[in-house]
Amino acid sequence: MGGPVLFSALFRTKSVEQSIRDTAEPEHALKKSLSALDLTVFGVGVIIGTGIFVLTGQVAKENAGPATAFAFIVAGIVCALAALCYAEFASTVPVAGSAYTFSYASLGELPAWIIGWDLVLEFALGTAVVAVGWSGYVRSLMDNAGWHLPDALAGPDVAEGVGFDILAFVLVLVLTGILVLGMKLSARVTQVVVAIKVTVVLIVIIAGAFFIQSANYSPFIPEAQQIPAGGGLHAPLVQLLFGYAPTNFGVMGIFTAASVVFFAFIGFDIVATAAEETRHPQRDMPRGILGSLFICTLLYVLVSIVVTGMQHYSRLSVDAPLADAFKETGHPFFAGIISFGAAVGLTTVCMILLLGQTRVFFAMSRDGLLPRFFSRVHPKYKTPHRPTILLGVLIAILAGFTSLSELAELVNIGTLFAFVVVALSVIILRRTRPDLHRAFRTPWVPVVPVLSVAASLWLMLNLPAETWLRFAVWMALGIVVYFLYGRTHSELVKRRK
Ligand code: ALA
Repeated sequence: MGGPVLFSALFRTKSVEQSIRDTAEPEHALKKSLSALDLTVFGVGVIIGTGIFVLTGQVAKENAGPATAFAFIVAGIVCALAALCYAEFASTVPVAGSAYTFSYASLGELPAWIIGWDLVLEFALGTAVVAVGWSGYVRSLMDNAGWHLPDALAGPDVAEGVGFDILAFVLVLVLTGILVLGMKLSARVTQVVVAIKVTVVLIVIIAGAFFIQSANYSPFIPEAQQIPAGGGLHAPLVQLLFGYAPTNFGVMGIFTAASVVFFAFIGFDIVATAAEETRHPQRDMPRGILGSLFICTLLYVLVSIVVTGMQHYSRLSVDAPLADAFKETGHPFFAGIISFGAAVGLTTVCMILLLGQTRVFFAMSRDGLLPRFFSRVHPKYKTPHRPTILLGVLIAILAGFTSLSELAELVNIGTLFAFVVVALSVIILRRTRPDLHRAFRTPWVPVVPVLSVAASLWLMLNLPAETWLRFAVWMALGIVVYFLYGRTHSELVKRRK
C-alpha cells in the first residue's frame, strides 16, 4: 500500500448515519429501554465510589489537607468541560461505544481504535480497582460480625506471599451474570443501590456537620513541604519535565490531589456508552451526563469539607476514612451504617464500569476491528453476552490478584486521554459535518473544547512518570493488534470493496 493510500485507510471515518444504521441490524441491536432518570441514576451509580469512600482520606493526609475540597473542585471542572463535549457527541451519535464511536465518526479509524483500546483499559482496570475496594469494606463488615476471612483469601494487599482476593473475584463474576441477563434488570438493581449510597453520603454530610471542630481547618491549605525526589519514576511527570523540587501540600499539592481524586469522577462518560439503549438519546443523554456530574461534585466537596473538619487531616484513616472519622469522634453506629452503604454502593460502580467496558468491546467488534463473534447479541436477553462473559472472567481474575493504587492512576491517565480525544473530535466534527443535527451543542466551540484539552493534559502531567510508561506500553500493544487484525478486517473495508 502506498503512503497516501495507507494514510487515508488509517484515517477512514465511519459516517454518523452508518453508525446509526448499524444499530438497526436486528442481530446486532440492543434493547432501547433507558430514560433520562435511568441515565442520571446510572451516572450517580457509577461515579460515587472508591474515589470518595477511600481516596479522600489518603489524599487529604498526603497531598492537600482540608484543601482536598479544592482538589475535588479542580477535578470537577476538568470533568465538566469534558462533559460538555461528551454531551454533544452522545446526543449526535447515539450508538454504543462512547468516545470510541465519536472518534470513528470524526478522527478516523486508527484514532478510534486507539481510543477504544484505551477505554477497554480504563473500564477493565477501573472495575478491578473498585471490586478490590468493595472487598475491603465487606471484610471490615465481616470482621465487625466476628467472621474473619483467612489472609490468603483477602488479596495481595493483606496476605503475605501470594494472596487471592476471593470476594472481589466472586463479585465480578456475579455482576457479569446479571449483565448477561439484561439491561433492565441491572438498571432496576442499580436504582435501589444508588438510593442507599446517596443516603449514606448524605448521612456523612448532615450528621458529620455536627461533629466538625473548626480548629481542624487551620491551616486550610497546609504549607508546602519538600519531599524526597520521589524515587525517579514515582514523581509526577510535570516535576521531572520542568525540574522543580517536588512538594506535598501547598497549592501544587492541590493539583497532585486532583489528579488522584479524579478517579472519583470517572463514570459520567459511561453514561454516554449507554446511548444506544436510551429511548430518546437526543434529549436525555445531555441531561443524564451533566445532571449526574453536578450532583456528584456537590456531594464530594461537602463530604471532604465535613470529614477534614471532623478529624485533623494528618490523622485520617486511609482505608475507610469516612467511617473511621465517625469512630474517632465516638459514633460507631454511624460508622457501621457508612461501611454498609459503601459496600453496597461500590457494587453498582463495579457493575456499570463492567457494562461500559463490554459495550465498547461490542462496538469495536461490530465494526470488525475485533472478531465479529463478539457482537452477536443473545437471542433472548438481547445483551452482548460473549464479550460480557469473556471480559468478566478476565477482570475477575485481575481483581483477585492485583492491588489498588497503581491501577487507579493508570485508569486516570487512560480516561484523561479519552477526554482529550473527545474534545478534539467536537471541533473536528463541527467542521467536517456541520450539517448534523445536534440535540445538545457544546457552548463556545472551540474555546470550551480547547480548555478541556488543556485541563485534561494538566492533570495527566501531574500523574507519575511510571504511569505514563505503563500507559505507553498498553497503547503500543494496541497498535500492534490493530495492524495485525483490525486494519484488514474492518467492516469499512468490506463495504467499500
Ligand atoms: N468514580 C468511581 C469511583 O470513585 C469509579 O469508584
